[in-house]
Amino acid sequence: MSSHRTDYDDAIVRKFISATVLWGAVGMLVGAIIALQLAYWPANLGLPWTTFGRLRPLHTNAVIFAFAGNSVFAGIYWSMQRLCKVRMFNDSLSNFHFWGWQAIIVSAAVTLPLGLTQGKEYAELIWPIDLAIAVVWVAFAVNFFGTIAVRRVEHLYVSLWFYMSMVITITMLHVVNSLALPATLTRSYPLFAGITDALVQWWYGHNAVGFLLTTPFLGLMYYFLPRAADRPVYSYRLSIIHFWALVFLYIWAGPHHLLYSALPDWAQTLGMVFSVVLIAPSWGGMLNGLLTLRGAWDRLRTDPVLKFFVVGITFYGMSTFEGPMMSIRAVNALSHYTDWTVGHVHSGALGWVGMVTFGMLYWMVPRAWNKPLHSQDWATAHFWLATIGIVLYVVAMWVAGVTQGLMWRSVTADGLLEYPNFVDTVLRLMPLYWIRLLGGLCYLAGTLLMGVNFIKTATGSATTSSEGLAHV
Ligand code: HEM
Ligand code: HEM
Repeated sequence: MSSHRTDYDDAIVRKFISATVLWGAVGMLVGAIIALQLAYWPANLGLPWTTFGRLRPLHTNAVIFAFAGNSVFAGIYWSMQRLCKVRMFNDSLSNFHFWGWQAIIVSAAVTLPLGLTQGKEYAELIWPIDLAIAVVWVAFAVNFFGTIAVRRVEHLYVSLWFYMSMVITITMLHVVNSLALPATLTRSYPLFAGITDALVQWWYGHNAVGFLLTTPFLGLMYYFLPRAADRPVYSYRLSIIHFWALVFLYIWAGPHHLLYSALPDWAQTLGMVFSVVLIAPSWGGMLNGLLTLRGAWDRLRTDPVLKFFVVGITFYGMSTFEGPMMSIRAVNALSHYTDWTVGHVHSGALGWVGMVTFGMLYWMVPRAWNKPLHSQDWATAHFWLATIGIVLYVVAMWVAGVTQGLMWRSVTADGLLEYPNFVDTVLRLMPLYWIRLLGGLCYLAGTLLMGVNFIKTATGSATTSSEGLAHV
């Protein structure tokens, strides 16, 4: 079949890439600010808009929906056109999706510091914004399935299945978890109450991790890694088993966020068991990714794209080992409420989501702009800054979490709490909070370096022929 390359809409990809870098830098900057606030409280500035409680959801919304979200869209718009060998179904829908999503992000950045929130983690935005999300998401879904319908390749490559699971599941999660009765323009009452509300919330929260931070990124891994490594996927059959096992298991695991709560015991046990079994497909996927590099390992020394992918996939393995362990009641009794959870989150977020995004962007930018990357050395420097940043962040939080957990449960020979004052633990954590800040700053510095590298690439005068790009 002849190539339809020139027909592809790469302008939309360039837009989503730019938004990823911009919001990534903003979200991580806010992350660094709240990390500073935890180490040095006067950084709250004594203003309501800049307190930790308001900036924390700004950070999580910015990095999850703006950084990771735009990154997923950039990768999907690039890869699905090539996998379906057809231009996106409708350019207006693509642009509506892009601008609508950015408008939602801006409204989040305004409302959250103002203290307007529904108070549900990762679903804080007030009801009018929730409605806007539903409209924009449906436009994306129509464009997505429209493209699948008009595709020129019969076979749906495994990446498309992973993307599809995101489109369908996020629709369902967002609609059910956001059900609320509006009272005023900015306030509403949730439809569910008590433990039912908690269960719905964590069914949403866990699967937002599963279907926004995991499955689409696996789809991206299955598309971009074989291209970057110039090798076929190690086992296509394993990738299909990986997909079905993962989507079947993930959806049940939410109750591991509610261990030792008022949720019935059987539901807690169900969440725990499904979480532990999740190791199997997760590690199958990790190995499938790493083994795709067989015969290409020597290129790891020189190619920053592969470096980012390998560390990203390794952190996927680490966080999907740690998560199931933390789902075991006895372990969760120690880890819950502590910084261990925050360490786990960032091993997945900085390690997996961040590194796969960076690898993919370094691969895509020269192709999307048809220019050679401004500096490979800067890309390698970014890789080291990010890797060192993650290690500092995650190790500091592991130590902090276990310290907290052990101090809280420690009792004297008389059965009294050894550390009755909460502040005793807080003071012990201070040095670790400074180390976390240092790690975060390294990670942020790497992201800024990438941004400058991309600007110089896009505005540089050199161009590359499409054949030459295979070696960029
Ligand atoms: C420069 C990089 C970053 C820094 C310094 C940073 C810092 C922080 C801090 C200080 C918190 C609050 C922890 C607490 O409440 O005790 C936090 C929470 C969180 N961050 Fe980040 N972050 C960074 C990047 C990211 C990225 C890239 C993502 C996702 C892709 C992410 C996702 C989250 C999530 C989901 C939480 C909530 C964790 C929980 O509730 O347990 N962060 N971050
Ligand atoms: C097999 C895979 C995984 C399992 C079974 C799992 C399990 C868990 C458990 C047990 C918790 C702590 C719940 C608590 O004590 O409150 C947790 C928290 C969390 N995990 Fe994972 N995890 C997995 C993979 C990942 C990955 C890959 C990411 C990120 C990309 C991630 C992001 C998060 C986030 C954001 C939270 C914090 C939720 C909150 O705000 O409290 N997880 N996970």
